[in-house]
This record gives sequence, structure tokens and C-alpha cells, in this order.
Amino acid sequence: MKKIKISFFFILTLLFTACNNTSVEDVTQKSLIPIPVSMEAGEGAFDLTAYTQIVTKGENSISTYFKNLIAPATGFDLKNAEGNAAESNYVEFEILKEKQEKLGKEGYELIVDEKGIKLTANEAEGLFRGVQTIRQLLPADIEKTAKQAVKWTIPACHIKDYPNYEHRGAMLDVSRHFFGVPDVKRFIDLIAAYKMNVLHLHLADDQGWRIEIKSWPNLTKHGGKTAVGGGKGGFYTQEDYTEIVNYAKERYITIIPEIDMPGHTNAALSSYPELNCDGKAPELYTGIEVGFSSLCVRKPITYEFIDSVIREVAALTPGNYIHIGGDESHATKKEDYIYFIEKTQAIVNKYGKQMIGWDEIVTSNLTKNSVAQHWATEKNAKSAVKQGLKIIMSPAKRAYLDMQYDSTSRIGLHWAAYVEVDSGYLWSPDTFVDSVPKANILGIEAPLWTETVENMDDIEYLVFPRLVGHAEIGWSPKDLRDWTTYKTRLGNHKDRFDALGINFYRSKLVDWK
Ligand code: ACM
Repeated sequence: MKKIKISFFFILTLLFTACNNTSVEDVTQKSLIPIPVSMEAGEGAFDLTAYTQIVTKGENSISTYFKNLIAPATGFDLKNAEGNAAESNYVEFEILKEKQEKLGKEGYELIVDEKGIKLTANEAEGLFRGVQTIRQLLPADIEKTAKQAVKWTIPACHIKDYPNYEHRGAMLDVSRHFFGVPDVKRFIDLIAAYKMNVLHLHLADDQGWRIEIKSWPNLTKHGGKTAVGGGKGGFYTQEDYTEIVNYAKERYITIIPEIDMPGHTNAALSSYPELNCDGKAPELYTGIEVGFSSLCVRKPITYEFIDSVIREVAALTPGNYIHIGGDESHATKKEDYIYFIEKTQAIVNKYGKQMIGWDEIVTSNLTKNSVAQHWATEKNAKSAVKQGLKIIMSPAKRAYLDMQYDSTSRIGLHWAAYVEVDSGYLWSPDTFVDSVPKANILGIEAPLWTETVENMDDIEYLVFPRLVGHAEIGWSPKDLRDWTTYKTRLGNHKDRFDALGINFYRSKLVDWK
């Protein structure tokens, strides 16, 4: 009799435990990346169900974004709460009337208890970043595109979170190989999931001109028709490009267009003979050498060309920045280079934009609103600080996504370094170059050059998982970043990568769960 009694109570206890969700792992075990600024576990958990109601406070469309995001895997078509209020079973998105200074533009506060989810922020952008955290608190199956038989439980918690750097981005080179609008949209979705806010598109180089310029049509008609290895190339019409810009904007990502000049310009030089000092157009180029091309820097037509290009690109760009390249101009004389950068900076400013250039631009006299992107030369980074400029940190040895992981990587290059997942993670923008203090650092960007990258599978193999670490470097405070805990959290993202169909590199340094 006694034995039966114990079993009966044991079963009751089990049932009670299941109903109260006390078996749910607590939020600190949830492997969030980037790790939030502050995170506390609460009591119990919240179950998102078909009857969960949406409450929206303050002007924002994040509730629609959230509903659409979770619809495929849950099969739920969540409704708005009647009277925009609910006692229980709700997800609430609120723009704060009284702003919380600490949260800034992108920060958010998330409170989950058994009754519901409350996400608050100063701006819709903060709510958007907060939804990325909610995604990671839900089971990984939330990322699947077909309905899953899963209980959608979120552990009770209180998270307060905001970014360490205002600029957190990736760069995609669409010149060496061209990637169409659907690939770029997928790229945007993947970086947005890790709270990045910038996509820099490298739109013109020796191997291809990829953005339609209506006043100089041969740039794409001729200059866009091939790629590294002699592939078919391609380009974005201005309508395509606008589609990308708008898609990114809906995900609170700013597109930074780059027209690389005065070197890296063979595609333009091949399209218009008058841009060459000898008036002769070279052949299109499909190799991977650098440093052999230059616009004819002292010809007036060169600046008519640049004025038209910057005018048209600026008109397609809601963001503040236009990137003018400026790297590896080995075929341009030093004094010509300086003359060129200063004239081009004035044109960018004339069209209401700030200029970004690779770190070599600091050899010129720059206005304070221009930004140097550090990739190679520490002296240039220091000189940027002396000029009072902001710097985007993209050191090739750590942040270049096209570097091979090791000598066995099937694609990629290794001229800067082999960059294993730990090496890509274990650095800080504010200590990487001494005498470049945090006050001068706008943020971090991880560039993917595409000499060896031909399709989306290749992109994903080099980008994942390293970009996830760069996203954490950009977002999370330095004292919370730690390789040992990071690699455990990263290993736990395997199910998410799989659910998203990401072809990621299975580094041996990570225990993929
Ligand atoms: C660069 O890698 N040439 C910026």
C-alpha cells in the first residue's frame, strides 16, 4: 500500500512539474549570441500559443514582423488583442514615451513571465533587435519554414540590452563574383538575426561594375558582363538596388555602397576609353591580381564621371555614407592619389553624404566627417586618430571572412592569415591597434571578398560561424566576451544554423550540439 502511495505522489509531482514548466532551462542557459548586457532568470515560463494576443503600444510595425516571423514554424496566425490590451497570454511591443537614455536607438528591455512577453524600446529599431533575442529564446525549430509540432516555451526572464558599437556590419563583394537580389536578401536576413545593422556592398572593382548608372550606361552593359574566372557577371538595375535597400531598411540595416576608386577600376576603364590617360580602353579582366588599374586622375572628365556616379548612387542611398574605396592604388602616383581623394571627398559631401574609404585615404587631408576603414596598416589607423576621424575596424588578420580557416579550407585565401573561429573572435576593436582609443571607433565590419566565392553555399561556409563572433564583438560589452563560454553558446547554435539551412563550417574547436 505504501509503495503505491509513493508512486501516485510521484506521478502527481511529475504532472505538476510539467504543468508549471519548472523543467524549462533557465534563461542563462539559453546560449544567446550576442550575449546581452544584463540578463536575469525569472520564475516559470511563457508558452506562446495560437491564442496568444498581440498588443502594440506606440507607432511601430514590429508586431507584424514578429507575427510573420513565427507563422511558418508555429502555424499560428496571431491576432491583435481586443482594445489593444490583454490580461494574459500576450506579446506586447511598446515604444517608450519616456525614453530610457541607456537604451539609445537600438537597445531594448525584455520581460517574460507566465502571463506574457513585454518588449520595450525607445525606437522601433530597438524592438527589432529585441525580437532577435526572442527568436533565440524560442526552440530552434522556430527557424524552420514548415509547421512543427513543438511547444513554444520561453523561460521567464528580464533582459536589458544595447550595443557596444553603433556600426556593426558585414561587407559583400559582388564585383569579383556577382550575387543576385535573392542572395543579398538572404545575406541581410542572416546578419540581421545577429543584430548587425550595416551591409556594405562592394559594387565596383576591376572584375565588374555592378550598379546601373543611367548617365554612363556602358558601365554595366559592358563592365558588368563578366566576373573572376570568366563567369557571366551581372548587375543591379536601379530598381533591383532599391529593392535591396528597402529590404535592408525593413530590417534596420543600412546599405553602404562602395565604388572603389581610383584603383580597382578596370571594369570602368574598359567601358569608357576617355577615363584612361592614353584614351584606350583595356580588355575586361577576369583574374585576381590587384593594383594595376587607375582612373586618369588629372583629366577633368574623370571628375564629371565621378560626379555623375556619386549623384546617382547618393540618390539611391538613404544612409549617410558612400564608400569610395581608395585601397591598393598602386598604379596611381602618390601626389595624384592625394589630389584624387580630396576632390572625390568634396563630391561626396556635395551630394549630402559622408565619405568612407579604406585606411590608405588618411594619407590625404580629410574632413572630420570622413571615416577610415582599417584593414591593413596600423600607421594609417593612428594617422586617422591624429586627424580626429572615426574608424571602422576590419583588420584582415581577424575580420576578413574570405581568409581560410586553415590550410584545408576548400575555398578562401590566406594572404593575411588563416582565421580559425577562435582567432576571429578573440580580439577587441579598441585594443587591436594601440593608440586607437574606443572614442575613435565607429564599430566593426567583417568583409567577404569573393575571388573564390561563387554561390550562396560558398558565402555561408566562409561567413558562418565567424560572422556570429564579429556580431558579438560589435554588440556585447568586452567584459562579457569570453571564448570558453562563447564556444559553448556557438555549439548550441548548430540547431538554429541547421533550421535556417546555413552551410556552416564545422570547426573542430567547437562542440556542435
Ligand atoms: C582591401 O582588402 N584591399 C581593402
